[in-house]
Amino acid sequence: MTTGTLYGISAGTGDPELLSIKGLKILQSSPVVAFPAGIGGKPGIAQTIVEQWLQPQQLQLALEFPYVQDEEILLQAWQVAAKQVWEYLSQGQNVAFVCEGDVSFYSTFTYLAQTLQQLHPEATVQAIPGVCSPLAAVAALGLPLTVRAQRLAVLPALYQVGELEQVLDWADVVVLMKVSSVYPQVWAVLQERKLLESAYVVERATTAQQRIYRGLSDRPNLKLPYFSLLIVQVRESHN
Ligand SMILES: C[S@@+](CC[C@H](N)C(=O)[O-])C[C@H]1O[C@@H](n2cnc3c(N)ncnc32)[C@H](O)[C@@H]1O
Repeated sequence: MTTGTLYGISAGTGDPELLSIKGLKILQSSPVVAFPAGIGGKPGIAQTIVEQWLQPQQLQLALEFPYVQDEEILLQAWQVAAKQVWEYLSQGQNVAFVCEGDVSFYSTFTYLAQTLQQLHPEATVQAIPGVCSPLAAVAALGLPLTVRAQRLAVLPALYQVGELEQVLDWADVVVLMKVSSVYPQVWAVLQERKLLESAYVVERATTAQQRIYRGLSDRPNLKLPYFSLLIVQVRESHN
């Protein structure tokens, strides 16, 4: 029997219509639809985004990925999830694993796919691309992300202010993911460099709760949700 394929379906950032047509077709034709489980028994964000596209006969599988840094705990969770998925793949069933944003951009899908292929090298995996959060955020702002020869830098999460300083020296446009936990430190660096008025924050881009801040001069203490990012236009072009 041929084994099924694990598809990584990019759900987009919140608006269910951002799912690609290819993603939608694969999602609806897969007997098993998996997603990262939500916190405290609530549906996860990816599940919420695609809910309206699912069919009653599809099996829904919430996979637990703890929100911790501990490598051991994470590795164990990825292995448990990969085994759960393999149960269906080995019976010839396709599994559509849905993630928020794009599945290749800081996404749980990568860890699941890598772990699956370590455990079962014969497993087939395919990523279906979609809309990632920096692109959704600039669309909401009505701005381009980059033009002409502008250099783009993306920081996944900021642990040291020195790292941001280096990036601001080099890049023309900087995207800070997961900014909620370090916002006051970032604000201070941007103030020092007189960049607050060319900085933007977008919360929950493309959802009904989307919120935009243009210019941050009078906002040193924003309390932001996890799903928020900051974009700084450092200079118009490097040259
Ligand atoms: C683990 S990363 C996932 C990125 C996702 N795969 C993507 O394609 O954008 C989580 C971070 O992405 C950003 N993010 C994801 N969705 C967002 C949204 N709808 N609005 C604003 N930021 C978002 C936030 O910075 C959040 O802390």
